[in-house]
Amino acid sequence: ALRRKCVLGNWKMNGSLAANASLLEALVAALGKVQNVDVGVAVPFPYLAQAQQALGGSPVRWGAQDVSAHASGAYTGEVAGPMLVDFGASFVLVGHSERRSLHGETSDVVADKAKAALAAGLTPVVCVGETLAEREAGTTLAVIGEQLAPVLALGADAVKRMIVAYEPVWAIGTGRTASPEQAQEVHAAIRERLRQAGAGEVQVLYGGSVKAANAASLFAMADIDGGLVGGASLDAQDFAGIVAAAT
Ligand code: G3H
Repeated sequence: ALRRKCVLGNWKMNGSLAANASLLEALVAALGKVQNVDVGVAVPFPYLAQAQQALGGSPVRWGAQDVSAHASGAYTGEVAGPMLVDFGASFVLVGHSERRSLHGETSDVVADKAKAALAAGLTPVVCVGETLAEREAGTTLAVIGEQLAPVLALGADAVKRMIVAYEPVWAIGTGRTASPEQAQEVHAAIRERLRQAGAGEVQVLYGGSVKAANAASLFAMADIDGGLVGGASLDAQDFAGIVAAAT
């Protein structure tokens, strides 16, 4: 395949200085020589400096889990893209389902955030995915099309610099992963939309209960370019096992 595989960890709101120190050290030990796969971890904002110190010089990149749509100003509590870049971040998640469902982020806001991330020099990892009710109603592809539309409207030059993550909400943190065939069906549809937008070679990651045991069969699918890993990214051996499945 032309596209590189990519495995990103999303720590979500977990960790502490002490716990991160061991996790980061173990990640460098396990992944310090990784080649041919893009690997990174999305850490909580306060730990960006710690990640930078521990991962700097290693092939493991670090990023954040959210970013403001604005570059600076009176936005109390928000964190701007250039601030993330100050700490060496290279990517940022935008539109994770937990941001959409718990913090009211609309697809328009998600597109604004993706645009702000690009303006700061960050790779936005745009997350999309349907709920169980939407899947059962047969609206999965329509929902994802609507989630992607404002992002794709940013234009081919912008979209080419993004990563897309397909995360079915019903598979996140549930231990219930999409089957490789279920995921591939949606990835192929996402790929087609990306192609129509002039960005068909963007990496499309799968997220939702990815484990070392199921990663290889998912990553073997034609349009699955790697994973966005939540729970299993909090254990260095589990995460390294998933990265190994991508090599
Ligand atoms: O961003 C990561 C996803 O929400 C997946 O989380 O691997 O714990 O299911 P999970």
